[in-house]
Amino acid sequence: MSAALQLDDVAIRFGGVLAVDGVSFAVEQGDFVGLIGPNGAGKTTLIRIVAGLLHPDRGRVRLSGLDVTEEGTAARVRAGLALTHQIVRPFRQMTVLDNVVLGAGYRRTSSPFRALLHVDRRHENARAAEILALVGLGGAEKKLAGSLPLGQMKRLEVARALAVDPKVILLDEPLAGLNHAEAAKQVETIAEVHARGITVVLVEHNLEEVMRICRRLIVLNNGQVIGDGEPREVMADPVVHDAYVGGGMVSHAEA
Ligand SMILES: Nc1ncnc2c1ncn2[C@@H]1O[C@H](COP(=O)(O)OP(=O)(O)OP(=O)(O)O)[C@@H](O)[C@H]1O
Ligand SMILES: [Mg+2]
Repeated sequence: MSAALQLDDVAIRFGGVLAVDGVSFAVEQGDFVGLIGPNGAGKTTLIRIVAGLLHPDRGRVRLSGLDVTEEGTAARVRAGLALTHQIVRPFRQMTVLDNVVLGAGYRRTSSPFRALLHVDRRHENARAAEILALVGLGGAEKKLAGSLPLGQMKRLEVARALAVDPKVILLDEPLAGLNHAEAAKQVETIAEVHARGITVVLVEHNLEEVMRICRRLIVLNNGQVIGDGEPREVMADPVVHDAYVGGGMVSHAEA
C-alpha cells in the first residue's frame, strides 16, 4: 500500500533563505507524526508545500501514491488532505455551523457556486453539527465565528478541516496560545480524530503533549530533517538536543 504522504527531496528558497532544504520522508496510513523543530525551522513552509499553498523549487509530493506536486489545493483536498493554519482564520461574520458546512462543500467542487448547488443543507447541517460535537463545540453552532475565544476558534479550525472528510490532516500548532485545560481538550480531540483512522501530522512546540501523543517524531532544523523515529529515541539524540538548546527553542506560548 502506498504511503499516505510521501515527500521526495522537497526544497524551497525565499531569497537568501533555504526554508526547506531537501526533505524526504513518508508517512504511513494511520500514523501519528509530530513535526517539530525550533522557530524558523521550516515546518509551516513544508506543510504549506504539502497542501499546495506553495510550489516547491524542487522535489515531489505524493498523496496515497498520487503525485500532486503540480496540483492546486482543491485537487489535494479531493485526494484526502486537510490543513489547519497556525494563525486561525475562520469566516468571522458567519456562524460556527456555516463555517463547517462551507468546508464540506469544498471537497466536492472548487467552485463556490457549484458547491452551493450541491449542498443538501439538512444533511450538511447535521453532519457539521456532528463534527462540532466531536471537537467540543456542540451548542456553539449559531454563534458568530468571530465571537469565539481563541481556544474555541482553534477547535473550529480543526472542525473545518474535518469537514472535508480527510484521510490525512496537517495541524499547524493547534495548541499554540491555549491554556492548560484548553490544550488538554484539543489534544483529546486530535486523539479522537486519529482514532477514527485519520493520519495525523502535528506541528507543535508543546513538546510535553507531542511526546505523549505522537508515535513518531520528525525534527526539522534549518529546513533539513535532523531526526526521525521513535519520540524518546529522537529526543535523546544529541544532534536534536543541540538544535533546540543551541537554536534557542522558545516556548509555545510565543509562537
Ligand atoms: N513567505 C516568506 N517569505 C520569505 N521568507 C519566509 C516566508 N515564509 C517563511 N520564510 C522564512 O522561512 C523560514 C522557515 O519559516 P517557517 O515559518 O516555515 O518556520 P516554522 O518552523 O514554521 O517556525 P515557527 O515555529 O516559528 O512557526 C524562516 O527563516 C522564515 O523567516
Ligand atoms: Mg510555523
